[in-house]
Amino acid sequence: MKVLVTGGAGYIGSITAKALEEAGHTPVILDSLLTGPQVFVRDRIFYEGDIADRDLLAQVVADHPDLDATIHMAARIVVPESVEQPYLYYKDNVAKSLELFDQLDKLGKPRVLFSSSASLYATTPDFEVREGDPLEPNSPYARTKRMMEEVLQDMAAATDLRGIVLRYFNPIGSDPDLESGIYAKEPSHVLGQLVMAARGQKDSFTITGTDHPTRDGTGIRDYIHVWDLARAHVRAVEKFDEVIDATGESSVVINIGTGSGVTVRELVAAFERVSGATVPLSEAPPRPGDAVGAFANVDRSHALLDWQTELSLDEAIASALAWGEKRQEILGYE
Ligand SMILES: NC(=O)c1ccc[n+]([C@@H]2O[C@H](COP(=O)([O-])OP(=O)(O)OC[C@H]3O[C@@H](n4cnc5c(N)ncnc54)[C@H](O)[C@@H]3O)[C@@H](O)[C@H]2O)c1
Repeated sequence: MKVLVTGGAGYIGSITAKALEEAGHTPVILDSLLTGPQVFVRDRIFYEGDIADRDLLAQVVADHPDLDATIHMAARIVVPESVEQPYLYYKDNVAKSLELFDQLDKLGKPRVLFSSSASLYATTPDFEVREGDPLEPNSPYARTKRMMEEVLQDMAAATDLRGIVLRYFNPIGSDPDLESGIYAKEPSHVLGQLVMAARGQKDSFTITGTDHPTRDGTGIRDYIHVWDLARAHVRAVEKFDEVIDATGESSVVINIGTGSGVTVRELVAAFERVSGATVPLSEAPPRPGDAVGAFANVDRSHALLDWQTELSLDEAIASALAWGEKRQEILGYE
C-alpha cells in the first residue's frame, strides 16, 4: 500500500514511516519542516509544504494516484505554547486540518487516520479510560484535538471520507535502529528530565504532585514504546475498511496504549533499574493544569486492529536512553 504521512518528518511520523516500509508499504511524506528535522525524512518520497496547500495536495495525488490512505500527524504539539499562542494552534491544527480533509475528499482519497491524544479524557475513578468515556481537554492543544475528532466525524457522516481516530497514550523510545527519536533541544518530557537528573545536568528530578488519589500519590500514565505505536498505524491502515465495516460507523475512535498504568514513582524505579543510575528526587505541588492521568482500556484496539503492544516499559526506557546517546550523531546537537 502507499500511504501519505503528514508530519512524517516528526518524531512519531518518521518512525511510523519506517514501520510502514518494514511491512512492505510505501510512505509518502508531506511535512513543512516547521519542527521536524529534514534528516528524519531520510530517502523517502518527500513533499516539503503545508497540509493546507491544496495545490500541493493535488500534485501529490497526481504524482501518486495509487495512494490508499492518509495518516494525518502534522500538528503543533507543545501544550504550554498552546496556552500562550492559541491562535497559532487553532489555525494550524484545526483550520488547516479542515482544508486537508476537504481536499482529500475532493481528490477522492477518503481513508484518513488521525493522531489524537489521551489528554482529551476526563479523569475516571480507577484511571482506566474507554473510548466512550467523557472528555475534558484541559489545554488549547488538547481542545484542537477534540475539535478535529468532531470535524472528522461530521465530515465522514456527510461525505465519502472515512476516519479512524487513534488516541495515543504516552509514546517513549526510538525505532529499533535508532534512526529517529525525540529531537527537542531541551526535552521537557518526563524521560528527558530523568536523564538530565541522572547525569547531574540538573540537581534533581522533581515529582510534581504527590497527593493524587493514585496508589502512591503520584500521577499515572500509560507509556507505550513508540515502535509499538508505529506498528498500530500499520495495522490500522491495513485493516482500515474492515474496521469501518465491523463497526458500521463512518469514523471510529481507538485507544492506542499498553493497558497498564505506571505512576511517576514507578517510572523512576524502572528508569533506575534500566539505567543503573540513581536519580536524586525532590517533590513539589502539581503545576497548574497537571492532570492525574489515565491509562488505556485496550479492548477495542485488540478486537478491531488485532494488535497489541509487544515491548515492555523497560525496553522503551532502554530505547530512549540509547537514542539519547546516539542522537547527536544524527541531529548534530546534544
Ligand atoms: N508525542 C506525543 O506524546 C503525542 C501524544 C499524543 C498525540 N500526539 C500527536 O501525534 C502527532 C505527531 O506527534 P509528534 O510527537 O511526532 O510531533 P512532531 O512535532 O515531532 O511532528 C509533527 C510534524 O508535523 C509537521 N508540521 C506541523 N505543522 C505542519 C503543517 N501545517 N504542514 C505540514 N507539516 C506540519 C512538523 O514539522 C513535524 O515534523 C501530532 O498530531 C501529535 O499531536 C503526539
